[in-house]
Amino acid sequence: MRVTQPIAHGVVDGPDSITGIVVKAMSRTPDPRLREVMECLVRHLHAFVREARPTEEEFEQGIDFLVRLGQASGPGKNEVILASDLLGVSTLVMLLNNALGRGETDAALLGPFWRGDSPACKAGDSIARDARGGEPLEVHGEVLDVAGKPVAAAIVDVWQASPVGLYENQDPAQPEHNLRGRFETDAQGRFHFRSVKPAGYPVPVDGPCGEMLRAQDRHPYRPAHIHFMISREGCKTLTTQVFDNRDNCIAADVVFGVTPALSGDFRRRPDGTWRLDYRFVMQPGTKRIPKPPIP
Ligand code: BEZ
Ligand code: FE
Repeated sequence: MRVTQPIAHGVVDGPDSITGIVVKAMSRTPDPRLREVMECLVRHLHAFVREARPTEEEFEQGIDFLVRLGQASGPGKNEVILASDLLGVSTLVMLLNNALGRGETDAALLGPFWRGDSPACKAGDSIARDARGGEPLEVHGEVLDVAGKPVAAAIVDVWQASPVGLYENQDPAQPEHNLRGRFETDAQGRFHFRSVKPAGYPVPVDGPCGEMLRAQDRHPYRPAHIHFMISREGCKTLTTQVFDNRDNCIAADVVFGVTPALSGDFRRRPDGTWRLDYRFVMQPGTKRIPKPPIP
C-alpha cells in the first residue's frame, strides 16, 4: 500500500498530544463510517489507557490475552465472540440496535453455536434427533407484527442445548443437527415443534475466556433457554432467546442476555411433559441473516 502524499500529522511531544495526532493520521479514510468508527475507537481506547494506566507488564498481558483469543478460535470454537459476550458487548450491541420501544420482542445475542444450515421441518416435527433422555417439551409460538397482524411464512430457526447442556456442534456424541430446525409460520403466524426441555449450561471455560472468568471469580452459567431467529422479507430479522424463568441463574446469566420480557413460562402438564407458549413481535425492516460464528 502506498499513499502519495503523507499526512503531516506532527510529532508526539507527550501523552496529551498523541490522540489528536493519531486521529489526524487516519483523517483521509475514504469511507466516512469507517473514519467515524475508528476515530471513536482511538479516542475511547486512549481514554481507557489514560484512566487505567496499565504498566508495561500489564500491557503485555493484555496483548497476550488478545493473541490467545484468536489462537483459541477456529473450526468448532469462537473465543473472540465469547469474550465479547462475557464483557456484555454483544448484548449492548443487540439492545442498541433493537430496543426501539415500538413493542417488538427484545433481541438477545446470537451466541457462538448457531449454524446456518439447520434442517427444514414440518409443523409439529421433533428437533430431538437423539432418542436418549430429556423431558418432552412442546413449543407453541406466534409471530405478529407491531400492529398485531400475524406474520405468515416467516422462517423460524430454532436451536438449543441438550438436556446435559451441550450444543450438537460442541458434542460429538450427538447426531448431526440435533436440537436444531427451521419451521415456517402458518397463515395465523403460528408455529409449533417438539423437543426436550433445555438445560442451563456453562459457556466453554477451557480457553482464555475461562481464565478471565476464574480471575474475576465469576460463574460460567447461562439459564436454560431456546434460541430463535425469525426472518421474513420486509421485517427486521429477530434474533432472540426465551429463558426458563424458574432457572436458578435467571438473574445471573454470565452473558447478560436475559431481559424481563424474555423470561418464558415452561409449564409442566399433568402427564409430566412440558409446554412453552411465546408470542414474538417483529418490527418492519430488512431481512439479514448473519454469518455463522463457527465456520
Ligand atoms: C449461547 O446461548 O448459545 C451462548 C451465548 C454466549 C456464549 C456461549 C453460548
Ligand atoms: Fe444458548
